[in-house]
Amino acid sequence: MSTDPHHAPSGHASHHTSGHTGHPGAAPEDVAMAELLELDAAVLHTYTAELTGWLAGFTDRAPTRILDIGSGPGTGSFALARRFPGATVTAVDHSPQMLHRLTRRAAAQGLSDRIGTRQADLDREWPRTGPCDLIWAAAFLHHLGEPGKGLARAFAGLRPGGLLAVTEMDFFPRFLPDDAGAGRPGLEARLHAATDTRPPADWSGHLAAAGFRPVATRPFAIALAAPLPPETNRYAQVCLRKLRSHAGALLSADDLAALDTVIGSGGPLGVLQRQDLTVRTTRTTWVVRKP
Ligand SMILES: C[S@@+](CC[C@H](N)C(=O)[O-])C[C@H]1O[C@@H](n2cnc3c(N)ncnc32)[C@H](O)[C@@H]1O
Repeated sequence: MSTDPHHAPSGHASHHTSGHTGHPGAAPEDVAMAELLELDAAVLHTYTAELTGWLAGFTDRAPTRILDIGSGPGTGSFALARRFPGATVTAVDHSPQMLHRLTRRAAAQGLSDRIGTRQADLDREWPRTGPCDLIWAAAFLHHLGEPGKGLARAFAGLRPGGLLAVTEMDFFPRFLPDDAGAGRPGLEARLHAATDTRPPADWSGHLAAAGFRPVATRPFAIALAAPLPPETNRYAQVCLRKLRSHAGALLSADDLAALDTVIGSGGPLGVLQRQDLTVRTTRTTWVVRKP
């Protein structure tokens, strides 16, 4: 898998720690990551709707109990609650900051009775919820120290016939035209080549070993062009900053200077002002069933 926002060393890379969305003592890297994930969901909402609609086609009955593991701020939980109106969703994460944001948003959207949270380190414990109809794991499985153990717990937590949906990002989103107007053409491609070092994930073997039956695997190639959601410019800035935080020793001085021009908040070449952005990324989802 290529650069994962959550694997990236953060903190100094993303400075947007607006107090009203955090809670006292929130780790800055969690605040930054939560913002990135919420922007991701806002910009890619059509993809998420397509994904959950596709997933709904594999259910044998309308889900009533859903578990979102490694939920982050719950963008998956909200999408699932909308897609499956008869379901309650339990979002599990080890980060109090992520769950705090999720709870606030659930209240704001009148969904507190349908979306609940549990704080847990899923490497060590698994929440008791009763048999689930659907478990959702987005950009999460690779965080587990022993994914096989996590998948065995997911298997045990599903009812027979229940589904597990695993989604991973194949490569980090790209936004800029080949010639970004700053530095030499190919700036963003060089940034990705230098920082996207993880091979694409393939969870099929792990899933089969845990006892799941394959249902479907689908790579989603996302390519958005104008008119883009209003959050796109900020999303691009946050993503580029994240990659920039890895790139210090990997790119030439002129590329780093050009990148700083693009990431900076001022000037016509700055990503917050640009009208020439597109959004390109791919994500793969594996859907499997407990027999
Ligand atoms: C890349 S984020 C993905 C969040 C969300 N699923 C999404 O797609 O927006 C990974 C999440 O997994 C959580 N996480 C990582 N390791 C964990 C663990 N051992 N137990 C529980 N949560 C964990 C992190 O706090 C983070 O919120």
